[in-house]
Amino acid sequence: MHPYLVEPGLLARVPQLLREQGFERAVLITDQDVYRAQFGAFKDGFERLDVVGIEAGESQKTLDNAQWMYGCLARLEVDRQTPVLVFGGGVIGDLGGFVAATYLRGLPLFGIPTSLLAMVDSSIGGKVGVDLPQGKNLVGAFYPPRAVWVDPEVLSTLPEKEGSNGMAEVIKHGLIASSELFELCRQLPPFPEWSLEQRTELVRRAAQVKLEIVARDPRELGERAFLNLGHTLGHALETAGDYTRLSHGQAVALGMLAAHELARRQKLLDKPLPLKQTLERHGLPTKLEKGFEWTRVEAALAQDKKRLNGKLRFVLPVRPGLVELVSGVPLEQVREVFEKLCAS
Ligand SMILES: NC(=O)c1ccc[n+]([C@@H]2O[C@H](COP(=O)([O-])OP(=O)(O)OC[C@H]3O[C@@H](n4cnc5c(N)ncnc54)[C@H](O)[C@@H]3O)[C@@H](O)[C@H]2O)c1
Ligand SMILES: [Zn+2]
Repeated sequence: MHPYLVEPGLLARVPQLLREQGFERAVLITDQDVYRAQFGAFKDGFERLDVVGIEAGESQKTLDNAQWMYGCLARLEVDRQTPVLVFGGGVIGDLGGFVAATYLRGLPLFGIPTSLLAMVDSSIGGKVGVDLPQGKNLVGAFYPPRAVWVDPEVLSTLPEKEGSNGMAEVIKHGLIASSELFELCRQLPPFPEWSLEQRTELVRRAAQVKLEIVARDPRELGERAFLNLGHTLGHALETAGDYTRLSHGQAVALGMLAAHELARRQKLLDKPLPLKQTLERHGLPTKLEKGFEWTRVEAALAQDKKRLNGKLRFVLPVRPGLVELVSGVPLEQVREVFEKLCAS
């Protein structure tokens, strides 16, 4: 597994950390928002640093932008010994990581995640890629970075709604493998009212869950599927809302509530979990707004089912820190749970 470091003030040490690995120059891939908000923190200290920047947002995670970046790297006369630093949220990590994985058949890649989601989720596990008009993340690779460096101080400029988004994955990690983390989420004030110590502890604990799972199952053949908690219905809701009505974190929050309800109906739950209150506390939705149609959700679930030999598969909570993968959940039960989310 690649080194993963969380340390306040780490940004300022990046040039030195790279020099220790024998690198004198680097290319930084970032988006305009992150560049404006955070670039000042570590630009000094490089022998040569070239910046490749795009606009922010999921719509930028395209092959067109990858191609444009290849052109930039060629113009900058990047060779196989030139490291790429991906400095941003998950969009930059996925797109920039994909470019680093493929240009000259692979450049040394370093992750410097700046959103909460990227810190605890997308920077870990080596998945890189881009979206196609036909669907999200359809083109990509497993390409682990040499290291991931997290400076929790950069969260000071993260927009509030992005904090909520990331919290959905943090709460998910608590439910999957750490009752202590789930308890911490239950008590923590909403983002951004966190001290530097709180930010650091939360990121460390939440990242630890994914780091351990990925170390045991790097190619997603087994237990890594647990990380899909809340994502089966979550993805279907995102699709049914045309990717505009719900953010990913909001969809995952609702997906986790659905998983909780399915677990209750399947008598898997030890006792009801304080999930709803925890999601509300962190600005995440606990019911579906009007206008979501079951037929569209069902169609999206059917795509999932096709991939899984005709069986709907859900990760369901048992108690904080323990989940189970359940295959063959009846569609009718999912519909009932969906309707409950609409009515609640
Ligand atoms: N590779 C994986 O394993 C994996 C896992 C989960 C998600 N993802 C991908 O991650 C992407 C979502 O990532 P995201 O939620 O970070 O979105 P994002 O990269 O779009 O970042 C969200 C917004 O926050 C801004 N931002 C980020 N850090 C900031 C900071 N410190 N200060 C100010 N602004 C900041 C960005 O400019 C952007 O506008 C999706 O494309 C998803 O597919 C990948
Ligand atoms: Zn997710």
